[in-house]
Amino acid sequence: MTDRGLPMTVPAADLPQRVRIHEVGARDGLQNEKTTVPTGTKVEFIRRLADAGLTTIEATSFVHPRWVPQLADAEQLFPQVRELPGVALPVLVPNERGLERALALGATHVAVFASATESFAKANLNRTVDESLTMFEPVVARAKGAGGRVRGYVSMCFGDPWEGPVPVEQVVHVCTALVDMGCDELSLGDTIGVATPGHVRELLTALNEEGVPTPTLGVHFHDTYGQALANTLAALQHGVTTVDASAGGLGGCPFAKSATGNLATEDLVWMLQGLGMETGVDLGRLVATSAWMAEQLGRPSPSRTVRALSPHDSHKEQ
Ligand code: HMG
Ligand code: MG
Repeated sequence: MTDRGLPMTVPAADLPQRVRIHEVGARDGLQNEKTTVPTGTKVEFIRRLADAGLTTIEATSFVHPRWVPQLADAEQLFPQVRELPGVALPVLVPNERGLERALALGATHVAVFASATESFAKANLNRTVDESLTMFEPVVARAKGAGGRVRGYVSMCFGDPWEGPVPVEQVVHVCTALVDMGCDELSLGDTIGVATPGHVRELLTALNEEGVPTPTLGVHFHDTYGQALANTLAALQHGVTTVDASAGGLGGCPFAKSATGNLATEDLVWMLQGLGMETGVDLGRLVATSAWMAEQLGRPSPSRTVRALSPHDSHKEQ
């Protein structure tokens, strides 16, 4: 480490020059909190993330408020952040009702969220995999028709808490359906954090072989088994340039037991900066934001980098 709180830069060959970080802390992070964070705190969180240089910040979800009460304030929150200059603010929409709510507030970037497994499709969407794909079709068409950009999440791409390891063909089937529907990009979710780098390479290669090009693919790793950074590096070496991460390592899914926090954005930025890759993120500001958020939540940040760079963090020794 240098005295400026930054890693030494030693570029590695054959890596993309620039990575777009898709920040999910305000959505994936806060949807899983036991207590509901006040709307004003969420607004400040998003503003501070933007101030730290993040340009894609997933803001909230227009899902059923009974299913995810932590994000039931989407209508109050979104208008307070939608004008942030130079920032895309994707929101999750499971169905046409969710899309209508998002479009009414001027959302331009939306995400549908599919599952590679039947068990999670049922738990998360109350639908079979095919029924959920049918539910997404008009959502994608209408969002595209309104000039929007659509991301398609696929959860349980590597393993599922009910079904165990997930066959690659099963994941490829759902991914190609979302691309055929018109999704602009996919995010490959390791919802319960069980993936390892060889598995990541296998899935990315299988998708390429089925005609899904690497620039369409993003990766979304949860860090349950400490594999998120290793898996990210495998994806970068494959040419992936969109990486999902959550400030401070917040996150999880209330409908998947054993889902823990996402890859922490700070841990990601530390590695990317060390590799000489551009992210546009100011690590110091980001760490300060996550340390502040940890105080709001009353517990230490799970991010190793946040802890290492927060000498005055009162939660650090706990
Ligand atoms: P359902 O119970 O089957 O709903 O839930 P329904 O379609 O039968 O409708 C029932 C009632 O809900 C109706 O009202 C609808 O209008 C209303 P009624 O006629 O009875 O008065 N309703 C809505 N209200 C507001 N907003 C809506 C909405 N939709 C229906 N959008 C549903 C189906 C999809 C709604 C439900 O399952 C749901 O909301 N699920 C969301 C689950 C969720 O948010 N999970 C977390 C995000 S995914 C994730 O975290 C994974 C990810 O990070 C990637 C990874 O890590 O793998 C993305
Ligand atoms: Mg997730």
